[in-house]
Amino acid sequence: MLPGGRLACVVKRAVILLGPPGAGKGTQAKKLEAKYGLPQISTGDILREEARKGSELGKKAQAIMDRGELVSDQIMMDIIRERVALPDCARGFILDGFPRTVRQAEMLDRMLNGSVRLQAIHLLLDEETLVRRLSGRRQCARCARLYNVYASPSPSDGRCQACGGTLVQRSDDREDVVRTRLEVHRRQTEPVIQYYQSRSHLKHVDGDGDADEIFRRIAAVVEAV
Ligand code: AP5
Repeated sequence: MLPGGRLACVVKRAVILLGPPGAGKGTQAKKLEAKYGLPQISTGDILREEARKGSELGKKAQAIMDRGELVSDQIMMDIIRERVALPDCARGFILDGFPRTVRQAEMLDRMLNGSVRLQAIHLLLDEETLVRRLSGRRQCARCARLYNVYASPSPSDGRCQACGGTLVQRSDDREDVVRTRLEVHRRQTEPVIQYYQSRSHLKHVDGDGDADEIFRRIAAVVEAV
């Protein structure tokens, strides 16, 4: 590794964070972004931003997200193609929430065409912890910082400690929707783990424990390549 956390590689790289809803992909992607200077691309955040703007895509996506189902592969691929073409992805990027189906993984491979070194990291966590993390998640409506009512420091006054913004719960974090999201993950996203395993791009990381400790496990994997 180079000073300042830069990765010592001239090859463009993509770190793919895989794992069920609530495994900590977003939390860890932000830490990776801060340490290595590669941008976090969260497809969920992109869809939620479209919904906030009230675009046609956003309205359609919001209805799908509220049911806990997946937006179509083609729409997701168009979003990714446009996003990775931006200048901040010149050295690489971190994918958080994409690919989520084998078809998306295949389309990503075709798009990158061997030009990027792929590294998939699978965060493992048991289902009860996932449900607890998701039902306790709150996010600042202003600066997007994540909190959890079950974790410390907890947002006791409902305000963001960083900017004072209001903390809100995601509409798809209701327990019934969470159960659907976990089932969709089992059916449609677990085969993606197998997809990368069979291409030797995959490492499993224990997603349980303190977020900084988990990050150290992930960083060790990232820096080993
Ligand atoms: P998306 O936003 O990607 O949701 P997700 O994958 O379900 O993941 P989450 O954001 O819920 O969890 P996470 O793993 O990022 O955990 P986090 O770090 O936030 O997708 C939403 C929807 O968009 C999908 O359902 C689908 O409809 C659509 N979509 C998105 N991408 C798509 C695609 N490619 N194809 C089709 N549709 C797509 O942490 C969760 C909570 O736990 C937080 O409160 C956090 O503070 C807490 N936490 C994190 N780490 C720890 C820790 N170590 N200890 C204690 N608490 C922790």
